[in-house]
Amino acid sequence: MSAADGARVAARGHWGSRLGFILASAGSAVGLGNIWRFPYLTGENGGGAFLLIYLALLFTVAISVLLAEFVVGRAARRNAVGAYRALGGRLWPVFGFLGIAAGFVILSFYSVIGGWTIAYLQQALVAGFLSSDPAAVGATFETRIGHPLTPLLYHGVFMALTIGIALGGVRGGIERWSRLLMPVLFGLVIVLAVRSLTLPGASAGIAFFLAPDFGEVTGATVLAAFSQALFSLSVGMGAMVTYGSYLSREVQLPGATAWVASLDALIACLAGLVILPAVFAFGFDPSSGPGLTYITLPAVFAEMPAGALFGALFFLLLLIAAVTSAVSLVEPFIAFVVEEVGLRRLTAGLAMGALVFALGIPSAWSFGLLADVTLAGRTFFGWMDFLTTKLALPLGALAITLLVGWIARGHALAEVTGDGAHRFPLARLWLWTCGLVAPLAIVWILLAGLGLLPGAG
Ligand code: TRP
Repeated sequence: MSAADGARVAARGHWGSRLGFILASAGSAVGLGNIWRFPYLTGENGGGAFLLIYLALLFTVAISVLLAEFVVGRAARRNAVGAYRALGGRLWPVFGFLGIAAGFVILSFYSVIGGWTIAYLQQALVAGFLSSDPAAVGATFETRIGHPLTPLLYHGVFMALTIGIALGGVRGGIERWSRLLMPVLFGLVIVLAVRSLTLPGASAGIAFFLAPDFGEVTGATVLAAFSQALFSLSVGMGAMVTYGSYLSREVQLPGATAWVASLDALIACLAGLVILPAVFAFGFDPSSGPGLTYITLPAVFAEMPAGALFGALFFLLLLIAAVTSAVSLVEPFIAFVVEEVGLRRLTAGLAMGALVFALGIPSAWSFGLLADVTLAGRTFFGWMDFLTTKLALPLGALAITLLVGWIARGHALAEVTGDGAHRFPLARLWLWTCGLVAPLAIVWILLAGLGLLPGAG
């Protein structure tokens, strides 16, 4: 490294320790995707078989993409735009910009849903959950998220928490809060899983979650499992490139990456063991879709002894998971603005907070005032979700795998082995996965997501 490069790297933020990096990255990975989306997808897709396919794809293809992001970030030790430029050359920064833009858009609707979580936490603490009829809870839920103002208030609170953490800096904000909150999250999910698993009648839910029935599996099941695995590991927009860029050269990336993916999978499994046994124990429908956590679960908590307490713990768990993920949607932009534009972290963070808040308003209203305003059948929220999770994220994931698998193969190999100092027996397999298997699988997701493949949903 040249002296100028050394000075540049020294002036950047960096993680205090390997554990801090792992917890911050796990904080990004573990989010609404694990606790809200994964259990309802499992419920909709027939249970155990979906779980197995999800785990298989997570630990082969998705983990390879995650390692690719970390490697690119640490090799360049720059923000995502700069990292793509350093490793790929002129054209590649486009994907850095695309990722940063995707971060704005994802955060704008992620924060709206995160805001609902705060509302439920408040309800659990103040009033408890009263109705055990999902239809009634559903009606209340729709009235509440359809209100023109209160969801905006909660969205604002969620954004303030997120930006507040990010402004503390890499080590003093993101790492410090991850070190504090991730163990709390883990404790909460264990307590809740024990509660759920010891309910009379829980075994039906356990059987549903763990006993695979491959008779129900279709192409759509595999597709849903794969996009969930990618989303869950936070790949496709440069968040993990940015997190990797703050990591010291001493840390061996394959092991750290395996930790992050394992923690992510573990929390998803535990969330399944919190939600599905409880839903079965009280005789509710596991395949109710996105409403599972916000409509079915409150009804479950209303039936459960000390339900308000467990409800409060659950929504606190969801909030912690969501906030630590949201921070990683902010950091790529902050890193870019600080390093390439030369503004201060404070300015970048506040600007992003304000813009994302504004962009979230029509998303929040998509459940009320603007519910009937649709374009090609999608609300504003629907479009934001579609453009990012179905389009920008797969494109970003495709770009990073092609960069590592083809363009910067040698550089990536040197980085992942510490210039040959460490053994990484799977290096060849990883490069092949990045060069061939992952791109093909991702192109499949892209085409299916755009509705260009018949019958794949
Ligand atoms: N992985 C998070 C979840 O499961 C969401 C998330 C955070 C994300 N940062 C990301 C997804 C970057 C894609 C890209 O909820």
